[in-house]
Amino acid sequence: MARLTPENVQRARDTIALYPEKRSALIPILHLAQEQDGWLTEDAMAHVAELLDLTPAEVYGTASFYDMLFTEPVGKHLVSICTNIACLINGGYELLEHAEQSLGVRAGATTPDNEFTLEEVECIALCGEAPCLAVNWRFFGSVTPEKFDALTADLRAGLLADEVPPHGTLNRVRRTVGLTAGVPATGRVAVSEAPAPAPPPTPTEKDQRGENQPADAAATETAVEEAAAVQDPPDTDTAPTAEGSRPEKGGDA
Ligand code: FES
Repeated sequence: MARLTPENVQRARDTIALYPEKRSALIPILHLAQEQDGWLTEDAMAHVAELLDLTPAEVYGTASFYDMLFTEPVGKHLVSICTNIACLINGGYELLEHAEQSLGVRAGATTPDNEFTLEEVECIALCGEAPCLAVNWRFFGSVTPEKFDALTADLRAGLLADEVPPHGTLNRVRRTVGLTAGVPATGRVAVSEAPAPAPPPTPTEKDQRGENQPADAAATETAVEEAAAVQDPPDTDTAPTAEGSRPEKGGDA
């Protein structure tokens, strides 16, 4: 089974660089591996372990804990039908029963043609349109048995490819700024989102806060600081560098 492709290894390294500890990138990189193959293959999990200096068992332990990560093959379309309270009282179980009959598999199974994996899930936050379902985590509300059959027919025919990406794809937009921890984001987004500098307070405002000092008091303070600096020069081994006191981030990414 597949290890991560060179492109995805680079994406994984970019993701690892966002965190102070490599292991913190585990879940995002598992989603990356799942996007590549549609599920988490044994080789992909071993590769993720290598990239994060973890054991395969640690990776598998996390992958097998979360519902959105699959350590077994998943069909082209993961159909998740909600049977939680709002959907339950609006026909969620009847919809699930219809789906099992229509697809010919029980919840938790995959159709022989590998087109659909059916699962029963808890609330998917579309309660206002109960009963509802998700296909590859894209949501469809007010689903009747007739709508279900039309939906699966369209999915099988590939008519919803724009709306429903392959299983494992969380989003289809790649982040292009701010990917490296400690490095200021560049680009129009970061610049436009930067807060405007605050205007200097007016003399009236300063007076109201009692912050104004006589000019000679400020001069006295400066003279005292300069005198202290002469008597007690900074230790050059520990003084901040010209670039600042924050150390450079170690880069193995
Ligand atoms: S109960 Fe079904 S989406 Fe919330």
